[in-house]
Amino acid sequence: MTTNDEWQARKEAAVARGQGNASPIYAERARNSEIWDVEGNRYIDFGAGIAVVNTGHGHPRIVQAVREQLDRFSHTCVMVTPYDVSVRLAEKLNELMPGDSPKKSIFVTTGAEAVENCVKIARASTGRRGVIAFNGGFHGRTSLTMALTGKIAPYKHLFGPFPAEVYHAPFPIEYHGVSIRDALRGLDDLFKVDIAPRDVAALIVEPVQGEGGFYPAPVEFQRALRGICDEHGIVYVADEIQTGFGRTGRFFCTEYAGIEPDLMTAAKGIAGGFPLATVTGKAEIMDAPLPGGLGGTYGGSPIGCAAALAVLDVMEEEGLVERANRIGAQFAERVRDLQREHPRTIGDVRQLGAMIAMELVKDGDPSQPDPELTRAMVGAAAKRGLILLSCGIRGNVIRFLPPLTIPQEQIAEGMDTVAKCLAELT
Ligand SMILES: Cc1ncc(COP(=O)(O)O)c(C=O)c1O
Repeated sequence: MTTNDEWQARKEAAVARGQGNASPIYAERARNSEIWDVEGNRYIDFGAGIAVVNTGHGHPRIVQAVREQLDRFSHTCVMVTPYDVSVRLAEKLNELMPGDSPKKSIFVTTGAEAVENCVKIARASTGRRGVIAFNGGFHGRTSLTMALTGKIAPYKHLFGPFPAEVYHAPFPIEYHGVSIRDALRGLDDLFKVDIAPRDVAALIVEPVQGEGGFYPAPVEFQRALRGICDEHGIVYVADEIQTGFGRTGRFFCTEYAGIEPDLMTAAKGIAGGFPLATVTGKAEIMDAPLPGGLGGTYGGSPIGCAAALAVLDVMEEEGLVERANRIGAQFAERVRDLQREHPRTIGDVRQLGAMIAMELVKDGDPSQPDPELTRAMVGAAAKRGLILLSCGIRGNVIRFLPPLTIPQEQIAEGMDTVAKCLAELT
């Protein structure tokens, strides 16, 4: 038998520290919402590989679809010899994206690539240069998406210079004293100080900031942004990489705002753990780049597309969008009970579907984040058999992102562990 510690030592010697790992737990196998490590320890998974296995680890339907696709072929390159599963998936995504305009899609491999492609498409379509993103937003680790990301450590630190023509506006978070009005005023100032709206190609927003700390973009704010984009001919990009595929209790989170984005990214939950990402958008905008200008060798892998079609079937058959709301309610109840027990430590609780967070502070003060306690919670939970994730621009948010298939008893069991860790550490 090998141990987690042995693997961690080998990993640290072989893999650069930049690709860090949250806990020194080496996965041996995983099933639905449980993971077993190389020592045989069992963990409840409240992270789903960062909102990826929404349908649970190793869902038999998805495994079967992948096996069948593997038997047919694993790669021909969608840009050389395309295949049925990619066309069928594009048709489904076009139907699922909010809004009535005709839609088209493209396939890439990672979330960051999807975001980059939104910028390319928006620039090709408008002939403009600027891109607006928001403070605290996260859009990826490539050069352009790092520039769009509104958080320095660890994403941007040491990596400049960044691509030009990227601007950041304030994101409304009442808990931190930024109202919708303040945020919109900030955007207006940006139009006066940094870039004229007629030079802006795209504005990109997460309907709930993910890595930034699970701060929802209020519906009114999203609607106001849609209005500003309409007024100035700016392409509205909804980054649904973390919020999509049922996570927030709607198929796509933007549905809550009742608006139609011009372009929308999807990744993570789309293919049950197989690397696939997409951009879907209004057909006339999507068709602006010339043939060959978008894509890549592995974009739209047939394995990923077959997995994604199976994910869609499972989501429908098992009612997972609705289940995200029930799971979320169960989590929120427990987290709010904990907040009543620890009012000076759990400063804020946020929940939209199965995207649940608690923000840890000192003395009940929003301006005194407690990233040390947050880190300690993740470590203590791992020791007690629970995978927990943190996030937040201040590093002080525990986020709960379970598979949408998690049984109720495991939510209760995992939350008991959270309660024990909190009691132990405070
Ligand atoms: C909202 C959002 N955009 C983009 C990304 C980048 O995706 P990837 O890590 O697949 O490149 C992420 C990943 O966490 C994300 O949450």
